Amino acid sequence: MIDLSDKDFVLNPYPQLAELRAHGKPVWHEDLGIFLAANYKDANQVLRDRKLGRVFKPKEPNELWDTFNWLHADSILDSEPPKHTRLRSLVMKAFNPRTIAALEPQIVAITKTLLAQASAKLESEGSFDLIADFAEPLPVRVISHLLGFPESEEHLLRPWSQAIVKMYEVNPSEQEKLEAQKASKEFAEYVEALMLERQANPGTDLISELAAVEQDGEKLNAHELIATCVLLLNAGHEASVNGFGNGMVATLNNPAQLEKLEEHPFDLAETAVDEFLRFDSPLHLFERTATEDTEVGGVKISRGQKIAALLGSANHDEEIFERPTELDLARSPNPHIGFGAGIHFCIGAPLSKVRDVNRTADADREIPKPELGSRAGS
Ligand code: HEM
Repeated sequence: MIDLSDKDFVLNPYPQLAELRAHGKPVWHEDLGIFLAANYKDANQVLRDRKLGRVFKPKEPNELWDTFNWLHADSILDSEPPKHTRLRSLVMKAFNPRTIAALEPQIVAITKTLLAQASAKLESEGSFDLIADFAEPLPVRVISHLLGFPESEEHLLRPWSQAIVKMYEVNPSEQEKLEAQKASKEFAEYVEALMLERQANPGTDLISELAAVEQDGEKLNAHELIATCVLLLNAGHEASVNGFGNGMVATLNNPAQLEKLEEHPFDLAETAVDEFLRFDSPLHLFERTATEDTEVGGVKISRGQKIAALLGSANHDEEIFERPTELDLARSPNPHIGFGAGIHFCIGAPLSKVRDVNRTADADREIPKPELGSRAGS
């Protein structure tokens, strides 16, 4: 059975995922104690079936894990209806299309600044790091701006977020556990101080809006608000960094697609983002637990048993996608489930696809072409 932590599998999971799909139904993974739903139909059902829920299992309930535990238990991602419905609708009130559209000029400005810095580095040092110099700071700055985190303290956010998400990987070390506990506490205390400040002096940022939103007499309580801010930062940037990085590697390895993207960046922006996520998934596995007996792909899942939707595998399913192992940045339709499906569908999906609306396809033709040689070496 697949070893999810095996180096070769992590490097290129797709051949083994294809073998898993060939079973034609969910397969039990004895070591992990979970069913793996690898084909599109089954993975999609796992995400949508209301008898399968996200059930957060707290780490040993002691003081050390306390903050980590409530940061998850009180977040949208790890709750189910009716709590999920209440949290999601309150968050959507503040995180709506208007908020996202209003963010566009800022996203463009942040992108331009980072590109100018990368370009200057390329000139002075001969190379720049696409991940460290561009892909990482971009979503962190956008989400910080959205939430209203002070710019001077942005450097604190990514280390906290990375320490927390280490807990989602297979077999974290004792050191990583200590770091996740510490990061949870520091991050939560930091957001709490900001929340209190914004409650006293509201601004136009999302923290102020979240502190104010109320629906049918319901408000987010302090833990829910803090958990939401931490989730928006963690969920919002890890996948964005990895999705962009994987997508760029795939494109750089495919000169014909690279050329198309260079010629028509504006036209291709939206389908390219979807294809980046379909072709090499930044997030592969999402777990659900059966809250009642159910059936997926003809396999009985008993109450309490776990099943995982394998998104990267589903997005390579030959029954849904033509030429699934080929990168096609203009692919349309592209019904990938890289943003999930059902009630937990990604809140940030529209944000991941914001384009500079002031650009036009004509402007694409004016973009100077960088030297391939300098890029390949970076
Ligand atoms: C390329 C970027 C992204 C990818 C691939 C991605 C993927 C996902 C996926 C697969 C889920 C569903 C998880 C599940 O069903 O268990 C999800 C949920 C979520 N995402 Fe994203 N995401 C991205 C960007 C963002 C951004 C930018 C934000 C916010 C700033 C965000 C916020 C969230 C939130 C809050 C949820 C939980 C929704 C709920 O439980 O109702 N994501 N995302």
